[in-house]
Amino acid sequence: MTVVAMATDYDRSSTNQSAVNQAAAEWLKKGAVAAVQVSLGTINILDLGSSTGKNSAQELRTAIETIQQAGERRDIVVTHIDTLANDWSQLFQNVTSLPNSYLAASPGSGVYTHGSAKSFFEQVAPSSSIALAYSGVSFQWMSQSRPLSDCWMSFAGTKDRDAYESNKQQAAQDWHKLLQQRANELLPGAYLIATGVTLKDSDSLQQLVIKWGHESWQEAKRQGLVSQQEYSSFAGGCWLRSREDWLAPLEADLRDSFELLKYQEGTVIDSHWLDYLDSSSADHDRAKILADAYCRYVFAVMGGVVSSHLVHRPQADVNRVLDAMKARFTDLAAQKPMRFEFPYVLIVLRRR
Ligand SMILES: C[S@@+](CC[C@H](N)C(=O)[O-])C[C@H]1O[C@@H](n2cnc3c(N)ncnc32)[C@H](O)[C@@H]1O
Repeated sequence: MTVVAMATDYDRSSTNQSAVNQAAAEWLKKGAVAAVQVSLGTINILDLGSSTGKNSAQELRTAIETIQQAGERRDIVVTHIDTLANDWSQLFQNVTSLPNSYLAASPGSGVYTHGSAKSFFEQVAPSSSIALAYSGVSFQWMSQSRPLSDCWMSFAGTKDRDAYESNKQQAAQDWHKLLQQRANELLPGAYLIATGVTLKDSDSLQQLVIKWGHESWQEAKRQGLVSQQEYSSFAGGCWLRSREDWLAPLEADLRDSFELLKYQEGTVIDSHWLDYLDSSSADHDRAKILADAYCRYVFAVMGGVVSSHLVHRPQADVNRVLDAMKARFTDLAAQKPMRFEFPYVLIVLRRR
């Protein structure tokens, strides 16, 4: 399976994921009310694709406060799920020490944190044990993906139709499998709440970012920093689902397992990035500063994927590759006026 390692600066660069996840807050409250109703004893909550917990510890606080404010005194166990390569130390540090984390909000009050290095394509908890499952911007990752000859990630405009179609099929199977596993774990009546990235139109920012990413990967090859074999075997590992992709299994055989409560597409505007600017910045500086910020955001995720791909190489080589890629990426991004809009999707399902 694809091994994804989020670079350690994910925490600094994940503000737009956080903004997307806030779209789920209202549903986390509803999911929390359902969690109390469906659990017989301990209330078990899953956080799927937690990364360092910087964002999800805050979102889960919404759910846990809802449970506690209702006067509920039963124990709550939160299990964070991510891959083996995740920065688990940072997760435990964030969950225990960030002021907006669910644990900081309720110290010593019967809320327990677990971490489990498992894939969300597997069953990660005992059957019929989970009262609420949450996932922030993680289900775009595939279990495996085929490299495309002309792009570093699956992209509607690719010329490599064979690889594109095979990744499309893989992504559909992945989503189906992921849902089947949740159907096993969730108690009847429990919610699965997920946010995700989605694709809206052909010149959306993500499509540009995919192209810039590919050009930066080509740059590493052009400079002789990666071999032909390393270059052509790289696959970005993500699939950005359309509405049809998200809903397909729910309109077919998984209709009996889940009720669709909400499907919402929207756009968040991440104003946090404007913090990088001060009003005296000249226009060309502004473009560069924003391109730098955007580059950090993209490489906080994709840097980990590139490093995993080059895991056989000394770290100094990997750093040279990443530096060359980031320089190229920033140049490309600086040529384009930056927008701060991120199309997202929110999907809420109830286990029947
Ligand atoms: C973009 S981060 C989102 C993190 C966090 N939930 C947030 O909202 O900021 C996606 C996370 O999904 C994890 N991930 C990718 N594939 C996975 C898999 N098969 N099983 C579990 N986690 C996975 C990655 O390691 C990464 O930490």
